Parts: sequence; structure tokens; C-alpha cells
Amino acid sequence: MASGQLSRAEALASPGCRHACHVMLFSDTKIQLFGRIPIRHIILMQMRFDGLLGFPGGFVNPLKETLETGLSRELSEELGVALQISVEDHVDSCHAPASSPSSSSSSRFITHFYVKKIEEEQIREVERAAATTATDHGHEVLGMVRVPLYTTKGGGGLSSFLSHSFIGNARSQLVNTLLRFNLVAPEELHKALTHSMK
Ligand code: APR
Ligand code: MG
Ligand code: MG
Repeated sequence: MASGQLSRAEALASPGCRHACHVMLFSDTKIQLFGRIPIRHIILMQMRFDGLLGFPGGFVNPLKETLETGLSRELSEELGVALQISVEDHVDSCHAPASSPSSSSSSRFITHFYVKKIEEEQIREVERAAATTATDHGHEVLGMVRVPLYTTKGGGGLSSFLSHSFIGNARSQLVNTLLRFNLVAPEELHKALTHSMK
């Protein structure tokens, strides 16, 4: 386990910690950009009220609700749909970096990350609801965005996306998930990461 990483059980047994849960929702797709560049997967992120990109989710109180029930509650507010997230969707838990605005010390704030694959039609439904009926739309959540996974001839796409600013460890959660779930070839990801740092 990488440093700062905890199992779900260890995280829940840590006394006096605040917890936040976020989820990456994704689907397969046959859509092609310009009719020739395969999009391959739709991955949902959001533009947050603070101008940073992040995953849907938020603070959860494990004394009052399970992590997954709390995450589903956050998703109803931010996405306007009832999506059940289960323990099987849990990917990792880790201490937030000491610089996180939500924590006074690195050990007091734990972020839990989930990944859930859904159907393309459900992705569209989430996007519709997030822009219409979601209670957080227009204030806490400014809009949903899809992550471009391809690289265009001019070097745009994933590398440009990764050069934006992200909340907390959302950028590494995204990059790690692209690899772990085989959503982008390692060498393509490596290229995109190298370009995004220029
Ligand atoms: N990785 C790590 N930390 C994250 C991530 C992430 N992917 N996303 C968010 N965070 C941290 C941020 O520091 C954030 O403040 O977790 C905290 C809680 O997540 P939010 O999604 O912002 O929480 P939410 O419950 O949806 O919002 C409630 O929290 O951010 C504050 O004041 C803000 O009104 C907002 C309130
Ligand atoms: Mg919220
Ligand atoms: Mg949130």
C-alpha cells in the first residue's frame, strides 16, 4: 500500500478524523470525435464552486451514516440522481495532504475514493439531472465535464485536461484510475503527463 494509504477499515477506526467520499462514474462509448478519434470512455468530473476540477461527493459523517450512504446522499445533492454506491466500488482511502484546506494536520482528514462503471445512457441521465434538478447546480457545482482520454495531433486532449487545477488529490485519483482500470494505455498516459507538465 502506498504511503498515506489506508484500508477502508483502518480509515474508519482512525479516531477524530473527518471523512470525505468521492466517486468516478464512467462508461464505455462508441462516440468518435470528428467522426474518427475514438472517445472510448466517458468519465465524469465537475467544475466546483472554487474553480477547481473534482469528483462528485463530499463530507460524510461515519457516526451517523455509512461512507457509502453518505456518498449517495452527496450524489443526490450534486447530481440530482439516486445512485447506489457500494463497498465493492471502494478503491482507496488516504490521509489528505497537510496542505489541504480542509485539514489542520494530515492525519485529521481522510478521503475515500470510489469508482463505478455505469451505462452510457445513465451517464447522459446524470448530466441532464445535474444541470436541471440537482439542488447544488449553479452554486456548489458549476457543471459536469467529461475527461478527454485521447491526444490530438496538436498534442491537445488528455494532456491539456491534466494541466488544469484540481481539488485535493483528485488529479492523482484520476491518473491512478486511468491506469488501474486500463482506460488509457500506460505509454499514452505517460506522454500526456509529460506534456501536461511543460
Ligand atoms: N480528493 C481529495 N480531497 C478532496 C477531493 C478529492 N478528489 N475532492 C474534495 N476534496 C476535499 C476538499 O478539500 C473539500 O473541501 O474534500 C473536501 C470535501 O469535499 P467537497 O466535495 O468539497 O465537500 P461537500 O460536502 O460536497 O461540500 C461541502 O465543503 O468544500 C467545502 O465549504 C465547501 O460548501 C462546501 C462544503
Ligand atoms: Mg456536496
Ligand atoms: Mg462535493
